[in-house]
Amino acid sequence: MTPEAAQTVAIVLEEATRRLRDAGVPDPRREAASILAFVLSTDRGGIVARKPDPVDTGAAARFAELIAARALRVPQQHLVGRAEFRGLEIEVSGDVLIPRPETEDLVQAVLDAGLPQSARVADLGTGSGCIAIAFAVGRPSWRLVAVDLSAAALRVAARNAAKHGVADRIAFVEADFAAPEAAWCGAFDAVVSNPPYIPEEEWRGLEPEVRDHEPKRALVPGPTGNEAYEVIVRAAAAMLRPGGLLALELGWKSEEPVRATVGSSGFNEIAVKPDLQGIPRVLTARR
Ligand SMILES: C[S@@+](CC[C@H](N)C(=O)[O-])C[C@H]1O[C@@H](n2cnc3c(N)ncnc32)[C@H](O)[C@@H]1O
Repeated sequence: MTPEAAQTVAIVLEEATRRLRDAGVPDPRREAASILAFVLSTDRGGIVARKPDPVDTGAAARFAELIAARALRVPQQHLVGRAEFRGLEIEVSGDVLIPRPETEDLVQAVLDAGLPQSARVADLGTGSGCIAIAFAVGRPSWRLVAVDLSAAALRVAARNAAKHGVADRIAFVEADFAAPEAAWCGAFDAVVSNPPYIPEEEWRGLEPEVRDHEPKRALVPGPTGNEAYEVIVRAAAAMLRPGGLLALELGWKSEEPVRATVGSSGFNEIAVKPDLQGIPRVLTARR
């Protein structure tokens, strides 16, 4: 791409699509259009409308830079610095997991669970803070505790909470799930977690966007992929009030072992909901 030439939106888009396709990026046209929309401060609809328009040299140079990075399989969300979660714009970086659509189902299951109006809810492994923030926005009288081992992730989460005006209702705590920290023990109405659940061996075969650019600690808890569930279920049993809700996002092979762990840890009313692809995705249980 030559930023000096007076090129139209249609031409730079075509060139970028070809470059991303050659690099093996899935859905290259959509990706190129989204990145160009970011550079031109519009949306993908705006790009279609502006196809015959010239792209100024500054914007063309910036677009070429971002496309070069995307061709190296840097996730688009890292290039634009944000992702969408339940309609909320969430800042992301290499320090946090990019929020996934499946996790929106986890949030919905908890919102639908009939918790008390002023519920106290813990989010274990908060990352970008997307789960805790979605609760704080959706239920203005809930109080949240959001825990993560990563200080860098918690800084991102705190900025996201401030951006959405809910920082005063979320306590961010730097701690290990396994540590019985006084700061976050107590009578919680719900403990919610999307923990790392990818087995070490499976992680090696993931797409480069995930394997090379997202924090391994957010993805892989150990060789089997079930290690974090075991710790979190034990912590939740100590944290929840009687009748309190445990809600966990499941990995695609986690249902059976997690059901067994939850069932043998003093929980009942175990239920599992599938995601849109029919994969068992959200487990809920009552202490
Ligand atoms: C799968 S990510 C989920 C992030 C976010 N809740 C989401 O759904 O997008 C798991 C998070 O757990 C954190 N984590 C991993 N092991 C942990 C541990 N032992 N104690 C506390 N947090 C941990 C990681 O830093 C990461 O932010």
